Amino acid sequence: MTTTTAEPAIRLRGVEKSYGQLHVLRGVDLEVSPGTVFALLGSNGAGKTTLVRILSTLLRPDAGTATVQGHDVSADPVRVRESISLTGQFAAVDEILTGRENLVLVARLRHLKAPGDVADELLERFDLVDAASRRVATYSGGMRRRLDIAMSLVGRPRVVFLDEPTTGLDPEARLEVWRVIRELAGQGTTVLLTTQYLDEAEQLADRIAVLHEGRIIANGTLAELKTLLPPATVEYVEKQPTLEEIFLALVGHNAGKDQS
Ligand SMILES: Nc1ncnc2c1ncn2[C@@H]1O[C@H](COP(=O)(O)OP(=O)(O)O)[C@@H](O)[C@H]1O
Ligand SMILES: [Mg+2]
Repeated sequence: MTTTTAEPAIRLRGVEKSYGQLHVLRGVDLEVSPGTVFALLGSNGAGKTTLVRILSTLLRPDAGTATVQGHDVSADPVRVRESISLTGQFAAVDEILTGRENLVLVARLRHLKAPGDVADELLERFDLVDAASRRVATYSGGMRRRLDIAMSLVGRPRVVFLDEPTTGLDPEARLEVWRVIRELAGQGTTVLLTTQYLDEAEQLADRIAVLHEGRIIANGTLAELKTLLPPATVEYVEKQPTLEEIFLALVGHNAGKDQS
């Protein structure tokens, strides 16, 4: 294990959460370094949203500790909320309003000075200037998702949670959202994104963790995860295992043991 001097932006230790008899998180340990993009990969129902809800103080863990920017989610939820944003949950885009009006509204709610300027800067950054004065009802899926992410950035949160940011988007809109996430990362924001898409994690993340049956079963850079599987067979020396192959091998759905 490597230690760095920088305090992790997100730290989970032994986090557990059940819904009644359903033991969803069974001891999750995780650290996310500041200014990095971390992908939490897991199948549908793995507990990704549960984890994000704990980190954003919407749910309390049953056991373990979780901190964001050094603030404990249970002991200091207000400080946690000040450092984060969460798309898809709080940032409900209002269809009746225009894109710009939505942004101004959020900036006002956060008591920012010059809400109009804040809105204009984000519209520019998310390539929504042309659509700024159109009602959101007329936006495409990709535009809506970009606006949703833009709204979550009002007030410059240090840590951003993106819970399945591209689920339900068509391929083109997905690419647009990827571009936005890369840009976010380039500005030093810590991003924790959850995804079911292996290629998304591969494209965007500095580190990738796999959540499976309530625990983190793999955690590393893409290069590190690739070493978990031996290189492909002699006939295909140049071929590296894909993240998908690694994932399937890790979760035990891979019948083909011929490579081990
Ligand atoms: N409020 C809830 N009450 C009961 N079960 C829940 C609740 N929320 C989620 N679950 C269940 O917990 C498991 C994990 O859910 P979730 O965290 O949403 O997974 P993911 O986001 O990875 O798809 C699923 O089996 C889901 O049905
Ligand atoms: Mg989910």
